[in-house]
Amino acid sequence: MTKSHFLLSVTLILTFATLTLASSPTKPYPSPYGDDPNSCEPTQFHHKDDSVPLRREVYGGGRIFDITHKYRVDMPSYGSPSGLGEFLWLRESIKNGSLANISEFKMLTHTGTHCDAPGHFYDEYFDAGFDIDSLDLEVLNGPALVVDVPRDKNITAEVMESLSIPKGVTRVIFRTLNTDRRLMWQSEFDTSYVGFTKDGAKWLVENTDIKLVGTDYLSVAAYDDLAPGHLFFLKGREIILVEALKLDGINPGLYSVHCLPLRLPGAEGAPIRCILIK
Ligand SMILES: *[C@@H]1O[C@H](CO)[C@@H](O)[C@H](O)[C@H]1NC(C)=O
Ligand SMILES: *[C@@H]1O[C@H](CO)[C@@H](O)[C@H](O)[C@H]1NC(C)=O
Ligand SMILES: *[C@@H]1O[C@H](CO)[C@@H](O)[C@H](O)[C@H]1NC(C)=O
Repeated sequence: MTKSHFLLSVTLILTFATLTLASSPTKPYPSPYGDDPNSCEPTQFHHKDDSVPLRREVYGGGRIFDITHKYRVDMPSYGSPSGLGEFLWLRESIKNGSLANISEFKMLTHTGTHCDAPGHFYDEYFDAGFDIDSLDLEVLNGPALVVDVPRDKNITAEVMESLSIPKGVTRVIFRTLNTDRRLMWQSEFDTSYVGFTKDGAKWLVENTDIKLVGTDYLSVAAYDDLAPGHLFFLKGREIILVEALKLDGINPGLYSVHCLPLRLPGAEGAPIRCILIK
């Protein structure tokens, strides 16, 4: 190594060290924040008060993102003007003399972040047992692309084509105007949500290898194309629909997605927990 090479190396090392120091320790890298800095709470590395439960949207310093909505009484419910309402209550409580607190909940299987099985829109598939328990966990877990779609349209064939999603991509999460409008944070069901039109759904089925379709409101299909949209997706019994994902603060890009529905034989829908890992 010549003297000038040595000096250059030292300079590079010092520059790198300065950059590293400048970006830490208060700002986790990669940043857990997306476009909207208010949408995700920062990860708390040092949880001081352990008498208060720690609730997080982002884990591991920006590595794991929870893209599941919390079930809330004021979360929207398909077709309802007033939201989900009471769904969880204590059946037995310590205060009333029971040995333990035991809660019970009751809700539609298509509540909050959830997935659809082929039996949701095909009666013959329902009767034949194509329920949540028949969904392929390999489809629900693996590399996934989060894409931003144009904000001025529903997801039409033209929009799908313009996204140029390469062949071989099997899991795509579509982030739409629904996230910007924070529709999942408003209790009144909003029919103007963005979803797939029937030609958009048909285009996806015929021209891509996508098997997991994720969107950010209660239905993947736009309100006006509710049945035809679902019918195109579910006909081949290969595509799994994951709805009402929480994509606030999530940047488009490549992640690993992990989705696990409740194992409910006989049900055509189920609550699902989904996370993205960087
Ligand atoms: C147990 O139930 C009581 C009400 O009887 C409630 O105040 C308390 O927070 C519950 N504890 C837990 C651990 O959920
Ligand atoms: C406890 O018992 C009272 C009186 O029966 C009842 O009104 C209340 O709802 C009960 N609470 C719980 C948490 O079980
Ligand atoms: C999407 O379609 C719905 C009807 O299904 C409509 O109300 C809404 O305005 C459309 N959104 C956009 C951005 O075009």
